[in-house]
Amino acid sequence: MEIKPITGALGAEIFGADIRKKADAEAVQEAFAKYGVIAIRDQNISPDDHLEFAERFGQVNINRFFAAVESHPKIAEVRKEADQKHAIGEIWHTDHSYDEVPALGSILHAIDMPEVGGDTMFTSMSAAYDGLSDPIKDLIGNLYAVHDTFHVFLNSPAAKEARAAGRLNAQDQVMPKARHPMVIKHPLSGKNCLYVNPQFTTEIEGLSDIESRSLLNMLYEHSQNPDFQCRVRWREGDVTMWDNRATWHKAVNDYHGARRYMHRVTVEGCALEAGSRA
Ligand code: SIN
Repeated sequence: MEIKPITGALGAEIFGADIRKKADAEAVQEAFAKYGVIAIRDQNISPDDHLEFAERFGQVNINRFFAAVESHPKIAEVRKEADQKHAIGEIWHTDHSYDEVPALGSILHAIDMPEVGGDTMFTSMSAAYDGLSDPIKDLIGNLYAVHDTFHVFLNSPAAKEARAAGRLNAQDQVMPKARHPMVIKHPLSGKNCLYVNPQFTTEIEGLSDIESRSLLNMLYEHSQNPDFQCRVRWREGDVTMWDNRATWHKAVNDYHGARRYMHRVTVEGCALEAGSRA
Protein backbone atom coordinates (compact mmCIF):
# COMPACT_ATOMS: atom_id res chain seq x y z
CA MET A 1 0.00 0.00 0.00
CA GLU A 2 1.28 3.47 -0.86
CA ILE A 3 0.11 6.63 0.95
CA LYS A 4 0.87 9.91 -0.81
CA PRO A 5 -0.02 13.26 0.82
CA ILE A 6 -2.01 15.50 -1.56
CA THR A 7 -0.98 18.93 -0.23
CA GLY A 8 0.88 20.29 2.77
CA ALA A 9 -2.43 21.16 4.44
CA LEU A 10 -4.43 17.93 4.33
CA GLY A 11 -5.41 14.84 2.40
CA ALA A 12 -3.69 11.71 1.16
CA GLU A 13 -4.18 9.37 -1.77
CA ILE A 14 -3.95 5.68 -1.00
CA PHE A 15 -2.95 3.21 -3.70
CA GLY A 16 -2.86 -0.58 -3.60
CA ALA A 17 -5.31 -1.00 -0.68
CA ASP A 18 -8.39 -3.19 -0.55
CA ILE A 19 -10.70 -1.88 2.18
CA ARG A 20 -12.46 -5.26 2.32
CA LYS A 21 -9.29 -6.70 3.91
CA LYS A 22 -8.90 -6.20 7.66
CA ALA A 23 -5.19 -5.30 7.62
CA ASP A 24 -5.62 -2.78 4.81
CA ALA A 25 -8.71 -1.25 6.43
CA GLU A 26 -6.75 -0.79 9.68
CA ALA A 27 -3.88 0.97 7.88
CA VAL A 28 -6.43 3.17 6.11
CA GLN A 29 -8.00 4.06 9.49
CA GLU A 30 -4.62 5.29 10.72
CA ALA A 31 -4.16 7.39 7.60
CA PHE A 32 -7.62 8.91 8.13
CA ALA A 33 -6.66 10.13 11.62
CA LYS A 34 -3.45 11.66 10.24
CA TYR A 35 -4.62 13.30 6.99
CA GLY A 36 -8.31 14.15 7.58
CA VAL A 37 -9.17 13.28 3.95
CA ILE A 38 -8.21 10.00 2.31
CA ALA A 39 -8.82 9.14 -1.34
CA ILE A 40 -8.57 5.36 -1.61
CA ARG A 41 -8.09 4.57 -5.26
CA ASP A 42 -9.55 1.70 -7.29
CA GLN A 43 -11.89 -0.05 -4.87
CA ASN A 44 -14.09 -2.81 -6.18
CA ILE A 45 -16.70 -2.76 -3.42
CA SER A 46 -20.38 -3.62 -3.06
CA PRO A 47 -22.81 -1.54 -0.96
CA ASP A 48 -22.41 -4.13 1.84
CA ASP A 49 -18.59 -3.72 1.74
CA HIS A 50 -19.08 0.05 1.90
CA LEU A 51 -21.22 -0.30 5.05
CA GLU A 52 -18.84 -2.79 6.64
CA PHE A 53 -15.92 -0.39 6.12
CA ALA A 54 -17.95 2.50 7.62
CA GLU A 55 -18.84 0.43 10.69
CA ARG A 56 -15.13 0.14 11.56
CA PHE A 57 -15.33 3.83 12.47
CA GLY A 58 -18.67 3.80 14.28
CA GLN A 59 -22.40 3.45 13.81
CA VAL A 60 -23.88 4.52 10.51
CA ASN A 61 -25.88 7.74 10.59
CA ILE A 62 -28.80 7.67 8.17
CA ASN A 63 -29.09 11.05 6.48
CA ARG A 64 -32.69 12.22 6.74
CA PHE A 65 -32.59 14.45 3.67
CA PHE A 66 -30.88 12.48 0.91
CA ALA A 67 -32.79 9.82 -1.01
CA ALA A 68 -31.47 6.38 -0.06
CA VAL A 69 -30.25 3.60 -2.33
CA GLU A 70 -33.33 1.41 -2.79
CA SER A 71 -31.69 -1.86 -1.72
CA HIS A 72 -29.65 -0.23 1.10
CA PRO A 73 -31.55 2.36 3.20
CA LYS A 74 -28.38 3.19 5.19
CA ILE A 75 -26.65 4.47 2.03
CA ALA A 76 -27.49 7.91 0.66
CA GLU A 77 -27.42 8.71 -3.03
CA VAL A 78 -25.38 11.68 -4.21
CA ARG A 79 -26.71 12.09 -7.71
CA LYS A 80 -26.86 14.73 -10.41
CA GLU A 81 -28.39 13.78 -13.73
CA ALA A 82 -27.25 15.21 -17.06
CA ASP A 83 -30.26 17.55 -17.28
CA GLN A 84 -30.01 18.91 -13.73
CA LYS A 85 -28.39 22.20 -12.72
CA HIS A 86 -27.60 21.98 -9.03
CA ALA A 87 -25.24 19.56 -7.33
CA ILE A 88 -25.80 18.42 -3.75
CA GLY A 89 -23.05 19.98 -1.65
CA GLU A 90 -21.85 22.61 -4.10
CA ILE A 91 -21.50 25.26 -1.37
CA TRP A 92 -18.63 24.87 1.12
CA HIS A 93 -19.94 22.97 4.14
CA THR A 94 -19.43 20.43 6.88
CA ASP A 95 -21.85 17.50 6.77
CA HIS A 96 -24.30 17.35 9.69
CA SER A 97 -23.03 20.43 11.55
CA TYR A 98 -26.75 21.07 12.20
CA ASP A 99 -26.95 17.99 14.46
CA GLU A 100 -26.46 18.22 18.25
CA VAL A 101 -23.96 15.40 17.84
CA PRO A 102 -22.38 16.00 14.42
CA ALA A 103 -21.17 13.12 12.26
CA LEU A 104 -17.57 11.92 12.51
CA GLY A 105 -17.10 11.60 8.79
CA SER A 106 -18.55 10.70 5.44
CA ILE A 107 -17.46 8.02 2.98
CA LEU A 108 -18.22 8.57 -0.69
CA HIS A 109 -17.93 5.87 -3.37
CA ALA A 110 -17.68 6.98 -7.01
CA ILE A 111 -19.92 4.87 -9.22
CA ASP A 112 -20.73 6.79 -12.40
CA MET A 113 -18.58 9.87 -12.97
CA PRO A 114 -18.28 12.53 -15.66
CA GLU A 115 -15.27 12.21 -18.00
CA VAL A 116 -13.93 15.44 -16.62
CA GLY A 117 -14.93 17.65 -13.67
CA GLY A 118 -16.98 16.86 -10.59
CA ASP A 119 -13.98 16.99 -8.24
CA THR A 120 -14.43 17.47 -4.49
CA MET A 121 -12.47 20.22 -2.74
CA PHE A 122 -11.53 20.19 0.94
CA THR A 123 -10.27 22.79 3.42
CA SER A 124 -8.42 22.03 6.64
CA MET A 125 -10.22 23.79 9.48
CA SER A 126 -7.26 23.34 11.83
CA ALA A 127 -5.01 25.08 9.27
CA ALA A 128 -7.68 27.79 8.91
CA TYR A 129 -7.78 28.24 12.69
CA ASP A 130 -3.97 28.30 13.00
CA GLY A 131 -3.81 30.95 10.26
CA LEU A 132 -5.93 33.43 12.25
CA SER A 133 -4.34 36.28 14.19
CA ASP A 134 -4.27 36.11 18.01
CA PRO A 135 -6.87 38.89 18.51
CA ILE A 136 -9.36 37.03 16.27
CA LYS A 137 -8.62 33.73 18.05
CA ASP A 138 -9.36 35.54 21.34
CA LEU A 139 -12.59 36.99 19.96
CA ILE A 140 -14.07 33.75 18.64
CA GLY A 141 -12.73 31.44 21.36
CA ASN A 142 -15.74 31.90 23.61
CA LEU A 143 -18.46 32.29 21.00
CA TYR A 144 -21.11 29.82 19.87
CA ALA A 145 -22.76 29.67 16.44
CA VAL A 146 -26.09 28.32 15.24
CA HIS A 147 -26.24 25.74 12.42
CA ASP A 148 -29.56 25.33 10.60
CA THR A 149 -31.10 23.37 7.71
CA PHE A 150 -34.29 25.19 6.77
CA HIS A 151 -32.65 27.49 4.19
CA VAL A 152 -30.70 24.58 2.65
CA PHE A 153 -32.99 21.57 2.49
CA LEU A 154 -36.39 23.25 2.35
CA ASN A 155 -36.20 26.66 0.82
CA SER A 156 -33.32 26.86 -1.63
CA PRO A 157 -33.64 26.54 -5.46
CA ALA A 158 -31.22 23.59 -5.26
CA ALA A 159 -33.49 21.79 -2.73
CA LYS A 160 -36.57 22.44 -4.84
CA GLU A 161 -34.90 21.01 -7.95
CA ALA A 162 -33.49 18.03 -6.03
CA ARG A 163 -36.82 17.22 -4.37
CA ALA A 164 -38.72 17.41 -7.67
CA ALA A 165 -36.21 14.91 -9.11
CA GLY A 166 -36.49 12.56 -6.12
CA ARG A 167 -32.94 13.29 -4.95
CA LEU A 168 -34.16 14.63 -1.60
CA ASN A 169 -36.79 13.18 0.70
CA ALA A 170 -40.22 14.72 1.26
CA GLN A 171 -40.28 17.97 3.22
CA ASP A 172 -42.65 17.00 6.05
CA GLN A 173 -39.99 16.61 8.69
CA VAL A 174 -38.56 18.64 11.55
CA MET A 175 -35.68 20.78 10.34
CA PRO A 176 -32.76 20.16 12.71
CA LYS A 177 -30.80 23.04 14.18
CA ALA A 178 -27.95 23.07 16.72
CA ARG A 179 -25.46 25.35 18.45
CA HIS A 180 -21.75 24.58 18.67
CA PRO A 181 -18.60 26.38 19.83
CA MET A 182 -17.01 28.35 16.98
CA VAL A 183 -13.71 26.74 17.88
CA ILE A 184 -13.77 23.06 18.75
CA LYS A 185 -11.19 20.71 20.16
CA HIS A 186 -10.87 17.95 17.57
CA PRO A 187 -11.93 14.68 19.22
CA LEU A 188 -9.02 12.66 17.71
CA SER A 189 -6.11 15.08 17.33
CA GLY A 190 -6.96 17.53 20.14
CA LYS A 191 -6.19 20.38 17.69
CA ASN A 192 -8.30 23.53 17.61
CA CYS A 193 -10.53 23.65 14.53
CA LEU A 194 -12.70 26.49 13.32
CA TYR A 195 -16.26 25.13 13.33
CA VAL A 196 -18.51 27.38 11.24
CA ASN A 197 -19.35 26.84 7.57
CA PRO A 198 -20.94 28.88 4.74
CA GLN A 199 -23.82 26.47 4.11
CA PHE A 200 -25.28 25.67 7.51
CA THR A 201 -24.06 28.35 9.97
CA THR A 202 -26.68 31.08 10.22
CA GLU A 203 -25.63 33.30 13.14
CA ILE A 204 -23.27 33.86 16.02
CA GLU A 205 -25.02 33.94 19.38
CA GLY A 206 -24.98 37.24 21.25
CA LEU A 207 -23.93 39.37 18.26
CA SER A 208 -26.08 41.74 16.23
CA ASP A 209 -27.05 40.64 12.76
CA ILE A 210 -24.44 42.84 11.08
CA GLU A 211 -21.68 41.79 13.52
CA SER A 212 -22.54 38.15 13.02
CA ARG A 213 -22.64 38.32 9.21
CA SER A 214 -19.44 40.36 8.98
CA LEU A 215 -17.47 38.09 11.29
CA LEU A 216 -18.71 34.93 9.56
CA ASN A 217 -17.95 36.36 6.10
CA MET A 218 -14.43 37.30 7.18
CA LEU A 219 -13.86 33.77 8.53
CA TYR A 220 -15.24 32.23 5.32
CA GLU A 221 -13.02 34.38 3.11
CA HIS A 222 -10.01 33.55 5.28
CA SER A 223 -10.78 29.80 5.22
CA GLN A 224 -11.01 29.65 1.43
CA ASN A 225 -7.28 30.38 1.13
CA PRO A 226 -5.85 27.71 -1.24
CA ASP A 227 -2.99 27.23 1.26
CA PHE A 228 -5.45 25.31 3.48
CA GLN A 229 -6.93 23.15 0.70
CA CYS A 230 -6.67 19.99 -1.33
CA ARG A 231 -8.72 18.68 -4.25
CA VAL A 232 -9.69 15.11 -5.06
CA ARG A 233 -10.01 14.24 -8.76
CA TRP A 234 -12.21 11.18 -8.85
CA ARG A 235 -12.00 8.01 -10.85
CA GLU A 236 -14.80 5.47 -10.87
CA GLY A 237 -14.32 2.99 -8.05
CA ASP A 238 -12.55 5.46 -5.74
CA VAL A 239 -13.66 5.80 -2.12
CA THR A 240 -12.95 9.08 -0.34
CA MET A 241 -13.49 9.58 3.37
CA TRP A 242 -13.26 12.89 5.21
CA ASP A 243 -13.38 14.03 8.81
CA ASN A 244 -16.32 16.38 9.29
CA ARG A 245 -14.88 17.94 12.45
CA ALA A 246 -11.61 18.91 10.74
CA THR A 247 -12.67 19.90 7.23
CA TRP A 248 -15.04 21.70 4.93
CA HIS A 249 -15.81 20.30 1.50
CA LYS A 250 -17.43 21.41 -1.73
CA ALA A 251 -18.66 19.41 -4.72
CA VAL A 252 -17.39 21.25 -7.81
CA ASN A 253 -20.34 21.67 -10.19
CA ASP A 254 -18.49 22.00 -13.51
CA TYR A 255 -19.80 19.02 -15.50
CA HIS A 256 -23.17 20.21 -16.82
CA GLY A 257 -24.68 17.78 -19.32
CA ALA A 258 -23.01 14.75 -17.72
CA ARG A 259 -24.20 12.40 -14.95
CA ARG A 260 -22.45 11.98 -11.60
CA TYR A 261 -23.62 9.20 -9.28
CA MET A 262 -22.13 8.23 -5.93
CA HIS A 263 -23.02 6.39 -2.73
CA ARG A 264 -22.44 8.10 0.62
CA VAL A 265 -22.31 6.55 4.06
CA THR A 266 -22.02 8.84 7.08
CA VAL A 267 -20.60 7.73 10.43
CA GLU A 268 -21.93 8.94 13.80
CA GLY A 269 -19.66 11.20 15.84
CA CYS A 270 -19.63 12.62 19.36
CA ALA A 271 -20.65 15.86 21.04
CA LEU A 272 -18.13 18.62 20.38
CA GLU A 273 -16.11 20.38 23.10
CA ALA A 274 -14.88 23.93 22.85
CA GLY A 275 -11.21 24.40 21.99
CA SER A 276 -8.87 26.34 24.26
CA ARG A 277 -6.24 29.07 23.80
CA ALA A 278 -3.63 27.44 26.06
C1 SIN B 1 -21.32 15.88 -0.08
O1 SIN B 1 -21.38 17.07 0.16
O2 SIN B 1 -21.46 15.05 0.78
C2 SIN B 1 -21.04 15.43 -1.50
C3 SIN B 1 -19.69 15.79 -1.95
C4 SIN B 1 -19.52 15.52 -3.41
O3 SIN B 1 -20.49 15.20 -4.08
O4 SIN B 1 -18.41 15.65 -3.90
